[in-house]
Amino acid sequence: MDLLVKKGALAQTKLVAPAQPPLGKGEVRLKVDLFSLTANNVTYGAAGDFLKYWQFYPSGEEGWGRVPVWGFATVTESTSAAANVGERVYGYLPMSDTFVVKPGEKKNGAFADHSAHRQGLAPVYNNYVLNAGDALYAKDTEAMQVLFRPLFTTSFLIDDFLADAGFFGASQVIFSSASAKTSYAAAQLLKARGDVKVVGLTSTSNVAFTKGLGFYDDVLPYEAIGGMDGSAPSVFVDIAGNAGVRTAVHAKFGDSLKYSCAVGATHWDAPRQDQMPAGPAPKMFFAPDVVKKRIGDWGPAGFGQKVGAAWAAFLPTAARTTHVVESVGLEAASRVFADLASGLGDPKDGHVVRLD
Ligand SMILES: NC(=O)c1ccc[n+]([C@@H]2O[C@H](COP(=O)([O-])OP(=O)(O)OC[C@H]3O[C@@H](n4cnc5c(N)ncnc54)[C@H](OP(=O)(O)O)[C@@H]3O)[C@@H](O)[C@H]2O)c1
Repeated sequence: MDLLVKKGALAQTKLVAPAQPPLGKGEVRLKVDLFSLTANNVTYGAAGDFLKYWQFYPSGEEGWGRVPVWGFATVTESTSAAANVGERVYGYLPMSDTFVVKPGEKKNGAFADHSAHRQGLAPVYNNYVLNAGDALYAKDTEAMQVLFRPLFTTSFLIDDFLADAGFFGASQVIFSSASAKTSYAAAQLLKARGDVKVVGLTSTSNVAFTKGLGFYDDVLPYEAIGGMDGSAPSVFVDIAGNAGVRTAVHAKFGDSLKYSCAVGATHWDAPRQDQMPAGPAPKMFFAPDVVKKRIGDWGPAGFGQKVGAAWAAFLPTAARTTHVVESVGLEAASRVFADLASGLGDPKDGHVVRLD
């Protein structure tokens, strides 16, 4: 079965039974075992056309798409030397019982999918790491891995990017959607540096949760932006992607805003920006591009070592901040996805889906 999502109306989903042609030469069929669902996956659907997320797993149905997720899958058939039946990988998956990849050469315990429809897409999404050679894999933290691994890398990169730039001369960093996992993991890293004040903006209903994390020096509801001190040199890290919030922050800080970093779109159905806001033009932060730059600077091993060390330090935090909610099956996954797309998620919950 495949879980399809209606493009432009992401809370509408349906399950379909696709044809399963026999494997071609050099292909591998994988059975999806476990994946996470967070606002990140809703954003994949919202930005599916613009950032080509619909291209990873074509749905074959006009107007409907397959939203990618991160998780574990097991090889059930193989005509490729890169992966044997029974081996397990971590990587980018569709919300489907099974899917097929065409691995390139196995290198450093991983392979890339060389299927024609995935060429030209960001390499980080085409890479599958075999559990056996994966420095970040541990059996007892699988739920935390599927939930946080894709998000934490971005958090690590936000912290690294801002520190490397000397915070653009700012003395505080302001996050929107401060309750989101990507935001608070970055806030924790920034707070640990102690170089800048870290401020979180969130929905009124999520203020208590976000304050309770202890990673922000200050937490405010979106309605309080107008009362902030607009003269403090600041960086805005926009995880919400809500034009109203962004305009309010830019209007309040104006030229005191030293950098505006457009990372996410958790408020995916809020109005888009139709006019350039006051202050600096927002610059898009696309993690795969920043990964590429840092791999260039540090080498693949150096990059892996730095992210791995930060990840190991973060894992106890993730376990403390997250209530893992496990659902079973694609029907259940469709309900969780629809709830997240409808804004009914609770920031303390970490949804994982098991397909058995
Ligand atoms: N640029 C990149 O390379 C990159 C990489 C990784 C992640 N991201 C983006 O970062 C964002 C955060 O992802 P995440 O998985 O960390 O999020 P998450 O933990 O699932 O975020 C939950 C929070 O997002 C807000 N939210 C979620 N769904 C909403 C909805 N339908 N309507 C309004 N608000 C909603 C709420 O925060 P508030 O009440 O605090 O607003 C909610 O508490 C995503 O947009 C993701 O795509 C970008």
